[in-house]
Amino acid sequence: MKNCEKPIGFFDSGVGGISVLRDSVNLMPNENFIYFGDSKNAPYGTKSVGEVRDLAVANAEMLVSLGVKAIVIACNSATSAAAELLRQKYPDLPVIGVEPAIKPAVLYKEGGSVLVMATDMTLGENKFKALLDKYKGMCNIELLPCPGLMEWVEKGILEGEEVEKFVDGLLSDYKGRIDRIVLGCTHYPFLSKTIKKVMGEEVVLFDGGEGTARELLRRLKGMNIENTGKNKGEIKFLNSKNEDEIELSKRLFSC
Ligand code: DGL
Repeated sequence: MKNCEKPIGFFDSGVGGISVLRDSVNLMPNENFIYFGDSKNAPYGTKSVGEVRDLAVANAEMLVSLGVKAIVIACNSATSAAAELLRQKYPDLPVIGVEPAIKPAVLYKEGGSVLVMATDMTLGENKFKALLDKYKGMCNIELLPCPGLMEWVEKGILEGEEVEKFVDGLLSDYKGRIDRIVLGCTHYPFLSKTIKKVMGEEVVLFDGGEGTARELLRRLKGMNIENTGKNKGEIKFLNSKNEDEIELSKRLFSC
């Protein structure tokens, strides 16, 4: 197989990174993709950094053994914990991480208030603190760790009374005083409708999926390994839990 035809490997703590995969397939429909969701070990965001590093290394090793030409860490938590380590381990492979879309949210307009929803791990790591330092003088930015939120997406529950109640519990203090929300965990874009229902349609949501897809394409082009073929690529879903998660993955990919 030619290098450019090799698949791009994605991984996440579960099915959330499919939001990033979706944006990447839209931008590069002719590439081949393998998506690995580690639903058996989800969530990552409440684990220790050491545990998430070990899981990330195991996921990357598995993808490399399948012959991928690039790795996308489609998880904010695993990016904070393990991106540098994976770049050292695979110096010849592009390793692309995700980060909360604070920059586009802050630059969207002058003033106002931005809320960043993410896992404890993402908000606690130095990578995030450095990102926040760059933009915190430009408008009011508030941080909200959301333990328990990704689990709804893992269960395939994206809308309805129960999840709405949960989201309302997280966001009720922010109603009426936040105009933009950064979805700083790759699971949360699947809850966009529910978040808007709770916060109001006028709240503007930002996620890192498109930016990550653009960075992936830039890196592939830079290394001359983008697939320039005209045919639609293949997408393969793998999951550490069971068959139901593969079905859920396909459902989320097409929703
Ligand atoms: N999808 C993940 C992220 O972007 C992680 C959620 C979790 O495993 O806690 O942070």
